[in-house]
Amino acid sequence: MSVPAFIHLPHPNLIADDVRAAAIADPVFGRVFTDHMVSIRYTEGQGWHDAQVMPRGPLSLDPATAVLHYAQEIFEGLKAYRLDDGSMALFRVEANAARFNASARRMAMAELPEDLFIAAVKEAVAADAHWFPPVDGGALYLRPFMFASEVFLGVKPAAEYQFLVITSPVGNYFKSGAPAISLWVSEDYTRAAPGGTGAAKCGGNYASSLVAQREAIANGHDQVVFLDAAEHRWIEELGGMNMFFVFDDGSIVTPPLTGTILPGITRDTIITLARDAGLTVREEPYAIDQWQADAESGKLTESFACGTAAVVTPVGKVTRGESSFTIGAGGPGQVTTKLKDKLVDIQRGRAADPHGWVTRL
Ligand code: PLP
Ligand code: COI
Repeated sequence: MSVPAFIHLPHPNLIADDVRAAAIADPVFGRVFTDHMVSIRYTEGQGWHDAQVMPRGPLSLDPATAVLHYAQEIFEGLKAYRLDDGSMALFRVEANAARFNASARRMAMAELPEDLFIAAVKEAVAADAHWFPPVDGGALYLRPFMFASEVFLGVKPAAEYQFLVITSPVGNYFKSGAPAISLWVSEDYTRAAPGGTGAAKCGGNYASSLVAQREAIANGHDQVVFLDAAEHRWIEELGGMNMFFVFDDGSIVTPPLTGTILPGITRDTIITLARDAGLTVREEPYAIDQWQADAESGKLTESFACGTAAVVTPVGKVTRGESSFTIGAGGPGQVTTKLKDKLVDIQRGRAADPHGWVTRL
């Protein structure tokens, strides 16, 4: 399919320069938004149409809009970076476009041609390139998403969808400034079961994770660890990040993609970078009891979480019910730091990009 031309609607009410500067001086993740949004509509039989770059603003929805009832909604998260030479770049946008369609297939939604996804993301960045926050780790976080916009109450896949891209200037995801995050293992809740939607990036997965995340926060932790639904034994992932475990022999383990965790793009990137560096990476199940035993014996030296928002974040402490254990010295380990630096250097254009991950804008 050829990419339809984007219509640029006039913006009568751009946010003033001083208001923008104050908003991006120290943005809380996901709380600041730019002037524009991109919208494309889909109608069965007609395909994708009405591609527009328009003023960001409220959507008007009929109360019977399908998404409000049966939650046919998917999203992506990726960042645009300002490089040291002042230009801008996207990181692995093709992978986000492909995962978006994998999510669409699982949720019986219309697929968006990948070149159209990429074109929409580029339009969003171009419209608001002056919103880059001048802070450490600063980026434009792009949130492409799609929902069932048809108006009906029958239970079936919708015949109409709206795809949007909104943009949020962000700094670091975790604001505490602590050297490592602490995790709470959920004893009561699981995130996804075999055959379910765990591998899709759909809003419903996050809705069902919130009660466990709230419990983690209430107990003084940063993120929840989900275990598998069948045996409640194997570590799956966090509420919004994948997990990695580093051992004293230098090898690394990460849970395998069995359909119940999100196939993180950062996860795939870290696996590749670690193997490029000569490290052994095993994608294999890792049990919660083993994690505790290995941390306590010193066999496990580091653990870290990763994702677009969190980048690479060291894990310092884990709590399961009444017992807690510390990872290594409780702060960032050497392997974690090395992999994070390598990733960030590629994203910021400071290191060679042998895998062609960076799309310069
Ligand atoms: N797992 C979950 C549940 C997530 O929400 C995310 C964030 O997108 C990730 C893992 C990491 O995925 P990615 O590296 O593609 O951002
Ligand atoms: C992302 O990293 O892009 C996510 O969607 C995760 C969420 C915690 C913001």
